[in-house]
Amino acid sequence: MKVAILKERRAFEARVAATPDSIKRMKPLGLTFLVEAGAGAAAAIADQAFADAGAEIVADPAALLAQADVVLKVARPLTAAENGTDELAGIKQGAVLISQLDPYRNREQVADFAARGIVAVAMELVPRITRAQAMDVLSSQANLAGYKAVIDAAEQFGRAFPMMMTAAGTIAPAKVMVMGAGVAGLQAIATARRLGAVVSATDVRLAAKEQVESLGATFVFVDDEEARQAETAGGYAKEMSDAYKAKQAALIAETVKKMDVIICTAQIPGRPAPRLVTDAMVASMKQGSIVVDLAVETGGNCEGSETGKVVVKHGVKIVGYANVPSRLAVDASALYARNLAEFMKLIVQKDGTLKIDREDEILKGSVLTQDGQIVHPAFAPAQPAAAQ
Ligand code: NAI
Repeated sequence: MKVAILKERRAFEARVAATPDSIKRMKPLGLTFLVEAGAGAAAAIADQAFADAGAEIVADPAALLAQADVVLKVARPLTAAENGTDELAGIKQGAVLISQLDPYRNREQVADFAARGIVAVAMELVPRITRAQAMDVLSSQANLAGYKAVIDAAEQFGRAFPMMMTAAGTIAPAKVMVMGAGVAGLQAIATARRLGAVVSATDVRLAAKEQVESLGATFVFVDDEEARQAETAGGYAKEMSDAYKAKQAALIAETVKKMDVIICTAQIPGRPAPRLVTDAMVASMKQGSIVVDLAVETGGNCEGSETGKVVVKHGVKIVGYANVPSRLAVDASALYARNLAEFMKLIVQKDGTLKIDREDEILKGSVLTQDGQIVHPAFAPAQPAAAQ
């Protein structure tokens, strides 16, 4: 069984899907590893380090894919329409593609995986059950993004985060508010607290209250019956009603005025990110304040944020860096590669062959296509209505 690791070709993508460490961890599975030359360069991993871990370095990606039974990637394959490179074209029929595939926003590509006979596994859909914790790419990457968002805010901010008492006067601590207290948000709270900021946070899930408070931040929350039902069985947020959104907006508007830094992390799986910070709220903030919008790629929590840019609105900098985990490519690759290595342990059998058993809850949740069909219920084409 040959496993290929491609160099990532998307803009803003510096990560790589395997590391020398992850290859060593997968070696006992009896696999052969082929790494595209330069695949780890942007994550500070030299070809020689992969070779030392036992991988073969292959310069030509087409030659690499022609042999591969499994393809490990970070980001979904580029299509011909995107930049002329059709990364799917070289993948063998029947080969298994394991990657973050962003399927909700790319349903046509899911159909394409099926049409080309590729077994596509979307790592972001691995259910968040205890057994799959070590495969949880959403957590491993969001945690780093939450940290980096605060560092990016500190870099853009013309003031210090901690309180400083000096002979020349006292500097007040920065006031930071975190929107969305999931994995990224909780790490953002912890990081801002470590830097000495006074931190508050909001979420629609009441379960977040205790976590926020245990990190020493204040929880800002519209507490009503709807909020008590806002968490899905999977632990995610639901999209809230217009009435709730109006109450939440009024509370956030009052709070935001007093803030120096806002870190936006709120997401709803498979849906556009909720709009939490309006242009009027940005205008109400002090000059020189910072908004970092980690949700910019799914529509943004903050009005006016732009992917890949820092824009200034009403004297407030709105930071919309794309692919924030990739800005910490070394750590993000190490954790992501480890997540994939754990997933490989699940699908490689003792004799070194693959078994994609969709009876397994983890595979049922994450396999999109198999045997030329879309097999994931969330993406299956609508069934014709039963005959009357
Ligand atoms: P996410 O990335 O989907 O969303 C981030 C946060 O935004 C969530 O806390 C969500 O409630 C919040 N949010 C959504 N709409 C909002 C709105 N209108 N206003 C304010 N906040 C809003 O979520 P993430 O970070 O992936 O985590 C989701 C849940 O899964 C959390 O409860 C987390 O603790 C849980 N989890 C469980 C794991 C496990 O192993 N059991 C592992 C990782 C996360």
